[in-house]
Amino acid sequence: MAQNEDVFKKIVSHAKEYGFVFPSSDIYDGLGAVYDYGQNGVELKNNIKRYWWEAMTLLHENIVGIDSAIFMHPMIWKASGHVDAFNDPLIDNRDSKKRYRADVLIEDQLAKIDEKIDKEVAKAAKRFGESFDEAMFRQTNPRVLEYQGKRDALHARFEAALNANDLAELKQIILDEGIVDPISGTRNWTDVRQFNLMFKTQMGSSSDSTMDVYLRPETAQGIFVNFLNVQKTGRMRLPFGIAQIGKAFRNEIVARQFIFRMREFEQMEMQFFVRPGEELKWFDVWKKTRLAWHKALGLGDEKYRFHDHEKLAHYANAATDIEFQMPFGFKEVEGIHSRTNFDLSQHEKFSGKKIQYFDPELNESYTPYVIETSIGVDRMFLSVMCSSYEEQKLEGGDTRVVLHLPKALAPVKCAVLPLVKKDGLPEKAREIMNVLKFDFACRYDEKDSVGKRYRRMDAIGTPYCITVDGQTLDDNTVTLRDRDTMEQERVPIAELPARIGEACSLNNLLKKLG
Ligand code: GAP
Repeated sequence: MAQNEDVFKKIVSHAKEYGFVFPSSDIYDGLGAVYDYGQNGVELKNNIKRYWWEAMTLLHENIVGIDSAIFMHPMIWKASGHVDAFNDPLIDNRDSKKRYRADVLIEDQLAKIDEKIDKEVAKAAKRFGESFDEAMFRQTNPRVLEYQGKRDALHARFEAALNANDLAELKQIILDEGIVDPISGTRNWTDVRQFNLMFKTQMGSSSDSTMDVYLRPETAQGIFVNFLNVQKTGRMRLPFGIAQIGKAFRNEIVARQFIFRMREFEQMEMQFFVRPGEELKWFDVWKKTRLAWHKALGLGDEKYRFHDHEKLAHYANAATDIEFQMPFGFKEVEGIHSRTNFDLSQHEKFSGKKIQYFDPELNESYTPYVIETSIGVDRMFLSVMCSSYEEQKLEGGDTRVVLHLPKALAPVKCAVLPLVKKDGLPEKAREIMNVLKFDFACRYDEKDSVGKRYRRMDAIGTPYCITVDGQTLDDNTVTLRDRDTMEQERVPIAELPARIGEACSLNNLLKKLG
């Protein structure tokens, strides 16, 4: 774990050093849990967004996109339940004066028990070698059973407290489990209180015309309130979906782990409207579809798992998270929720407008049910960065840091490098750039030795380096160096667009999804 924390720290500083992510307001010492994306980060982020957008809107005839405003009528947040219930249970430690989410402290405790079980399993696997039967070991080993028993009991108690909204019980669990503040090391906890996560501001200029408005805490409500607009103007027939990418804001109590939990972040959400009674079928369809989207990136199938929610919102009849193995454990990257007809019904009630769909096949009107897929762009970005980062020892004692980014997502697809800064090589390299730049994000670099330039490109995950040398002037060939294998081959310039295009194409990635 300590080793993983170390790696995570290195990833955070790498992200800054190579223009991916900067702390916001850096020259003013930053602003808590707010970040800016740099010259490489914005490209990677845009590529992630494009992959999601095109997977939704190109591959599904019945999904269209919108871009709704961040400011919305304040009644929307009353209707959605956010004004009354978008709360986190917080607890303070009186010694460190730090604030924590009570539920997260308990979840961390559960994760610690899981780790202990995994350690026992790993030790036994090593001891027994090929003949090891993991399932049998988990069912029979006394120590594992003891840990599992403790875990199940804690889990049951935690789930009951959450479902009953019992804040006193949450505190009691923290005390009974002996959970200490990671900073002060003490158990000097305050009571658990609820804290609303929405940012509030005022709209209007004169005192009598101002109204309180919120920065949206999710993009989904912009879709719900546009359901009728899109359905009618697009003549959409159920089932159909509306997709949106946009900023969301939450005054997170515990903002930590870099861009994992931010106060300003970006979501990619899709609401899929279906007939009542068909929602669980569609829930399964979307679970599979979304997992396939993640896996197609090739970050490692074993790094994903589903995690069903401990506590279902009162309006949901199924909910799961897609978790990704970050250096700090399996964490939620995406949520898939069956939200029944709650949101549309609430907006019908609060707006007084009839929000129903006339189903021509059934010859009846009803309020559609909704399956939501909701993924954080920043968390997706973090999972891509974490799984791509590698410090490699090379032959001859040299080292390099390389980002094995999925090629279609890489901020720069190729670098054009004249071997030396003379003899007509820069001019020839520029000529090549002028051909490639219409199709690919290319960088030209003539400074330092070619070895150093390769390292710079490895560090930002550029899949290909094209080196122009004396032979290029004679026969119009270059060396094409692969980021991952570091192998170089001689390739005619005329073949470059096809070679790079094939390997880095977003379309090819989309085709994997069918
Ligand atoms: N409309 C449903 C919704 O907003 P959520 O589980 O609260 O559901 C969905 O959020 C996704 O948004 C999460 O899976 C996560 O990827 C991202 N997300 C939520 N809060 C975030 C935060 N503070 N910082 C970064 N990403 C966040």
